[in-house]
Amino acid sequence: MRKEFVKAVDEKRLSQALLAAYADEWLAGYYYMLTAHTIMGHVSGEIAENFMKEAKEELTKHAPMIAERLQSLEVELPRDFRSLWEMSRCKYPELPQDPYDIDGWLIAAIKAEECAIDGYKELYELTHGKDPVTENLAKDLLADEVRHRTELINLLSKEGTKRLLA
Ligand SMILES: [Fe+2]
Ligand SMILES: [Fe+2]
Repeated sequence: MRKEFVKAVDEKRLSQALLAAYADEWLAGYYYMLTAHTIMGHVSGEIAENFMKEAKEELTKHAPMIAERLQSLEVELPRDFRSLWEMSRCKYPELPQDPYDIDGWLIAAIKAEECAIDGYKELYELTHGKDPVTENLAKDLLADEVRHRTELINLLSKEGTKRLLA
């Protein structure tokens, strides 16, 4: 890792946190796409569209931003796709069996976003005042995940909102 860019950050923790976030982005992107192509019933079209939009953002914006940072820090990206699951910090919450349980699919995604939000807060705290490039990255990604969470919450039915709070 190039020390000139990063002072006083625990290098191992930094690369682990970035690799975990990279894996989380891939998993979220995959599961959002799966959700878009699985959910059924009333308003599922509109909600599927939102899931595809967020999947695209995870896979084509967030994952590449993190990959670029890892490359700058000379940390290799995982070559074995299976290791993404192992590296992931959030994995993915349990999915409903029923494709008509749209609230259930939304709640799983909201929980995934909340895990990502915690992860980027931790990354921000780890790098704050020490590694401004990663600090900024964490801040940008955090803002996007907060927006994703809000968008998903806004798609819940009234019943779903109660389930989320339960
Ligand atoms: Fe993301
Ligand atoms: Fe997200």
